[in-house]
Amino acid sequence: MKKTVAIVLAAGAGTRMKSARAKVLHEISGRSMLEHSLAAVRGTGADSVVAVVGHDREQVQAALVTCAPDATVAVQHEQNGTGDAVRCALDVDTSGADTYLITYADLPLLTAETLTELIASHETSGETVTILTSKFADPTGYGRILRDESGAVTAIREHKDASQTELLVDEVNSGILVVSGEFLNRAVRALTSDNAQSELYLTDIVAAAVSEGLLVGAHVLEDVWQTKGVNDRNQLSAMGRELNQRITRRWMAEGVTIVDPATTWIDRAASIGPDTLLHPGPQILGASTVGGGVVVGPDTTLRNVEVGDGASVVRTDASDVVIGPKATIGPFTYLRPGTELRERAKAGAFVELKNTTVGVGAKVPHLSYMGDADIGTGANVGAGTITANYDGQKKHRTVIGESVRIGCDNVLIAPVSVGNGAYTGAGSILREDVPAGALAVSAGSQRNIEEWVERARPESDSARAAKQLPQENTGDIE
Ligand code: UD1
Ligand code: CA
Repeated sequence: MKKTVAIVLAAGAGTRMKSARAKVLHEISGRSMLEHSLAAVRGTGADSVVAVVGHDREQVQAALVTCAPDATVAVQHEQNGTGDAVRCALDVDTSGADTYLITYADLPLLTAETLTELIASHETSGETVTILTSKFADPTGYGRILRDESGAVTAIREHKDASQTELLVDEVNSGILVVSGEFLNRAVRALTSDNAQSELYLTDIVAAAVSEGLLVGAHVLEDVWQTKGVNDRNQLSAMGRELNQRITRRWMAEGVTIVDPATTWIDRAASIGPDTLLHPGPQILGASTVGGGVVVGPDTTLRNVEVGDGASVVRTDASDVVIGPKATIGPFTYLRPGTELRERAKAGAFVELKNTTVGVGAKVPHLSYMGDADIGTGANVGAGTITANYDGQKKHRTVIGESVRIGCDNVLIAPVSVGNGAYTGAGSILREDVPAGALAVSAGSQRNIEEWVERARPESDSARAAKQLPQENTGDIE
């Protein structure tokens, strides 16, 4: 096996993005273009990676530290062209590689399979330069692949240097090349900037190889999306939609029902089990893992959420949460980081949970906020209940034991605990721990002031109703 080093060019300016963020750090399907490109390169099994950075290099280098810590970074101080960028890479690369794979960091749909095939074809054909090409309906701006009468590649001509007849060529250079190491080192150092852009064109190595009698091959890739670069936000969006379409197709092929792929967004790192049903409008983001036989949506956002088999998650927004098997969530439920719902647990309508565990079969069915709480197996939290978990300075925990019944409209002032099997009355404000098996009541006992309405609101409809007299101003409340 030959030693292969990948060079990923990422020094360009990306002016048309009009962004404070480096172009290659813009994201589709939950990953930056840089990460997509590096994942494809890494998938080839290349021995090492050199990333060439220049514009916004602080940002790009910082991103590389997390997404490709093993990559060598080459700094190109001035963007003097792709040939100069590759020279910068070779200057820092001490691998003595047999073969170089050269690609760009702004090709997010390019796959490892495509690159692997290109490397394999380079190795088996004995070519010195192997070019990945595309046929574009509109080749404007791209380098054209020039061939002789026999079809052999003779050169790549940049758009700005091309003659009228050369401009008619619709086969373009994708920018992805596989080149023999010894030749690349030699050819790149011999480049001159004698061209329309006064740049060092990497593409000039093709004519150089031909003039030395070395073999050059060009392979047309039918899937044009893979070789399309992203230069502005319209292209970013179109590319994002295409990638998402590929991802939804893949999950449908794996047995997931997707009612409306056009409104379903699944990040590249997410996974979904068979017989799961996605209603319109779900976003399954980050490293979310959704099990089998789950119902998601409509209109649900899951970020880094684990969903167990058979759960149902309807109109929910959840981040960094674990939802157990057969749990039922929603509609209109907000699940915040650190929350875990165990098997068959429930979080119902207008419920917000933060950093809270809900035990097996436990339920928070309606209109509640539970923060920093542990809710035991089989417990039930009455409608409208709130944990007062923040004293203005610190957060405190609330512990609700097994099979507890919290009444409606309780306030649990943390730190507080309710022992196993205890009950609490409606409207209780729990400032003190409740022992196991007790009934806690804190609302004052009720006092009825007889005939108050007759005295305080004489002649009103209420007063008439109390005496069962006909109404005079029904519904006419000022
Ligand atoms: C280049 C090719 C062209 C090809 C096209 C495909 C050359 C001379 N031309 O065009 O044949 O059809 O790509 O998109 O190679 N970069 C650097 N440093 C530089 C210049 C560019 O790192 O000094 C990087 C950019 O960040 C980008 C890539 O190289 O990722 C291509 O640069 P770009 O300016 O978009 O391509 P062109 O030179 O127009
Ligand atoms: Ca370009």
